[in-house]
Amino acid sequence: MKLYQGILLTAITLPVYAGQWQALPDTPPIPTDNPQTEAKIELGKTLYFDPRLSSTGTISCNSCHNVMASGDDSRPVSVGVEGQKGGRSAPTVFNSAFLSVQFWDGRVPTLEAQAKGPVTNPIEMGMKDWEAVITRLKSIPGYAPMFETAFGGENPMTADNTAKAIAAYERTLITPNSSYDRYAK
Ligand code: HEC
Repeated sequence: MKLYQGILLTAITLPVYAGQWQALPDTPPIPTDNPQTEAKIELGKTLYFDPRLSSTGTISCNSCHNVMASGDDSRPVSVGVEGQKGGRSAPTVFNSAFLSVQFWDGRVPTLEAQAKGPVTNPIEMGMKDWEAVITRLKSIPGYAPMFETAFGGENPMTADNTAKAIAAYERTLITPNSSYDRYAK
């Protein structure tokens, strides 16, 4: 998100919510069917940074949501596989774990549901379908044991578990106790 959007938003909402300033909680809401574990977060982080989840092997989640910067790509619209431009600017992933809905238009309710979208979006990561993604992951040594440790069970390498792991990692991308939070407290 651009700074001016933040300022604009603050300017619009400030008079309305001035009485409701709150510090960010120390932990985001965790869904009961996807508890945080170290193994799952580690797997999710690996997937988040892995460009092999894209058709060309060049684009990862981090390409558009750079967690070494502000959690976005600082571009007016995002650029995916083959240099294709999308229609919207990437929002930051920082603190998306606290949102009640995802995307600019709130069309997806959870991080788990969100994480499956970009991988098979033809403009973003361009994989044909989730079957192709799982086939790709199975061909990469190292992922099978990570999925087994994180999820156990018969056949843990699934689209749902991939999304769960990425969402678990995203729930660590939070910024409690910022200057703002300390002020609000
Ligand atoms: C090519 C760039 C690109 C890639 C790759 C990409 N995203 Fe995004 N992401 C976007 C854009 C653009 C939006 C906003 C789309 C919209 O609102 O319609 C978005 C939205 C989101 C949101 C919603 C945040 C909010 O504030 O509503 C989350 C969370 C997110 N992406 C996570 C991911 C994850 C996880 C991956 C990898 C699996 C990923 N993204 C890959 C560009 C990208």
